[in-house]
Amino acid sequence: MIRSVVRGVGAALPKRVLSNREMESIVDTSDEWIVQRTGIQQRYIAGEGETTASLGAEAALKAIESAGLSAADIDMIICATSTPDNTFPATAVNIQNRLGITHGFAFDVQAVCSGFVYAVTTADAYIRGGLARRVLVIGAETFSRILDWTDRTTCVLFGDGAGAILLEAAEGAGTTADRGVLTAHLRSDGTHKDKLYVDGGASTTGTVGHLRMEGREVFKHAVGMITDVIEQSFEASGMTAADVDWLVPHQANRRIIDGSAKKLGIPLEKVVVTVAEHGNTSAASIPLALSVAVGDGRIKPGDVVLLEAMGGGFTWGAVLLRW
Ligand code: ACO
Repeated sequence: MIRSVVRGVGAALPKRVLSNREMESIVDTSDEWIVQRTGIQQRYIAGEGETTASLGAEAALKAIESAGLSAADIDMIICATSTPDNTFPATAVNIQNRLGITHGFAFDVQAVCSGFVYAVTTADAYIRGGLARRVLVIGAETFSRILDWTDRTTCVLFGDGAGAILLEAAEGAGTTADRGVLTAHLRSDGTHKDKLYVDGGASTTGTVGHLRMEGREVFKHAVGMITDVIEQSFEASGMTAADVDWLVPHQANRRIIDGSAKKLGIPLEKVVVTVAEHGNTSAASIPLALSVAVGDGRIKPGDVVLLEAMGGGFTWGAVLLRW
């Protein structure tokens, strides 16, 4: 059977770092409160000329280079983002243009913080369906531009950045010994749509709007939803928590990450955590974390990697793959 195998990974961060200490001069908060409640120590903030598409293109180029390929080899681009450069065209098309690609096709997916898990699942379906062979899957965000910088309950949590992987079709035996995506599971439940949302939009206010969140409500559901969908992945693949070499979760909050790992029985040494350095970069957080863990030699070819995310909608999902 055809498998979607990861061939390359890349990341891009804005130049400017915003520390918790600096945050104290923006809103009534403290380094201690932010670290204790979230684990976040700093975040990167996009400056002039840095956009979702520019960061996404930089990450994508690095993923292509790390695969030893060139832009001409790519036939499909998916960008997961909730902070597009424009309402349309899709940020993926903007990135396609920045990479100098005029063949194939490109589109965005929007599932907020679960966006990268949705995008990998979509790419895998296209590859297994024979519609594409080499796919750039990008998560790119500039959440700093939709934050209400007077709201301390949200503005301390998020940051900007981008990450990308290159997936390529490869023949597999159909067993869990194959490299590539082994199983993927997506969920959403719109009854929670008002717990984490942006209070503007093209069809309602005609403005971009600002992020609004009932943090405690999100927190309450997060661990249960994440662990449920991971259990589904284990059931579908016949694998268990003991088979997982690396859990690479969406980086929203250290307490959610630790709580999920504990409930699943995955030791914290096997969890890739970058929330302290990046903050919550929404759809970019998983590929940013992958890039860090591949770069420092933790994730190696053949390792079993579990990706999971939960976010606005609510949306949630998990992807189990062999690197
Ligand atoms: N600095 C200092 N105090 C603060 C701050 C701040 N930045 N923000 C809130 N507080 C205060 C509150 O006003 C409250 O004060 P009070 O007790 O006097 O009323 C107190 O701190 C506690 O507030 P809670 O909201 O109960 O704090 P909690 O422990 O729940 O932590 C947090 C808040 C970090 C937001 C937590 O609820 C959380 O992480 N929720 C999940 C959020 C999340 O993961 N969102 C991303 C999902 S991904 C996506 O799709 C974008």
